[in-house]
Amino acid sequence: MKIDFSGQVAVVTGAGGGIGLAVSLLLAELGAKVLAVDRSQEMADSALAQLRAAGAVAEAAVADVRQAQDVLAYVAQALDAWGRIDILMNNAGWQGQVRPLIDYPEEVFDEVMAVNVKGVFLGLKHVLPVMVAQGKGAVVNTASLAAHIGTRHLAPYTASKHAVLGLTKTAALEVARKGVRVNAVCPGPVDTPMIRAVEEGQAGGDPQALQALKAQRLAMVPDGRYASAREVAQLMVYLASDWSSHITGEGVHINGGQYS
Ligand SMILES: NC(=O)c1ccc[n+]([C@@H]2O[C@H](COP(=O)([O-])OP(=O)(O)OC[C@H]3O[C@@H](n4cnc5c(N)ncnc54)[C@H](O)[C@@H]3O)[C@@H](O)[C@H]2O)c1
Repeated sequence: MKIDFSGQVAVVTGAGGGIGLAVSLLLAELGAKVLAVDRSQEMADSALAQLRAAGAVAEAAVADVRQAQDVLAYVAQALDAWGRIDILMNNAGWQGQVRPLIDYPEEVFDEVMAVNVKGVFLGLKHVLPVMVAQGKGAVVNTASLAAHIGTRHLAPYTASKHAVLGLTKTAALEVARKGVRVNAVCPGPVDTPMIRAVEEGQAGGDPQALQALKAQRLAMVPDGRYASAREVAQLMVYLASDWSSHITGEGVHINGGQYS
């Protein structure tokens, strides 16, 4: 059996970012129609242009995943265009500021939780009814290695990714008998704009500190490198496909051995 998403519809949030774009392109390569969702017109258009250049059947939606009306609008757009939603890649996320917990601004804490937890919650809340009505569907939430361990100076991000696993497990239990699966991926460092923003934040603008920090972080990965966005996309696509038909409620690691 080959992974073949012909006739299936996928919605990807954060589609203009590193992992979101990689998974959108891979879904399209395997036959899915893709709704590329991102928070700005520029990000959504950029994803759409790259999808169409690759020959995909795709649409773009501008939506802030923190806002219920925006989530309802992307669901409606997918249904209007193609009549179903088979796959949701609930992937949009934000690292927040890189600061010690005791100095962490309360309003930034709220923002990180809103994007990473409420955004995932709203995606589940409004897409799962569509999948349940179809009797078929798969959701993949993007959690993190930070869903399992602490991360210095990223308290809200770490808390938010632990919460994503809680949402994943609970949603999976609630729809397990309805033909719908819900899983999460837990990547270690991935070579995307987000990891670069985290590293620059941790280095505090000092180029030497940045080099040292990168070397230190790489040394923590047993296979000695960051994941590519494509590698994470391959795991996400596996979890969205019938190849993983008995896997639900899991947070699957992808980190070159860093959690071993
Ligand atoms: N890069 C890493 O090392 C890494 C590791 C583990 C987990 N992750 C997770 O992977 C996911 C994708 O991150 P990435 O590495 O591709 O980063 P990225 O910054 O390249 O992409 C994140 C995307 O989310 C979008 N986004 C942010 N806030 C949004 C909002 N309110 N509404 C709609 N879209 C919004 C951004 O515009 C961007 O396109 C995130 O959930 C992130 O936490 C990343």
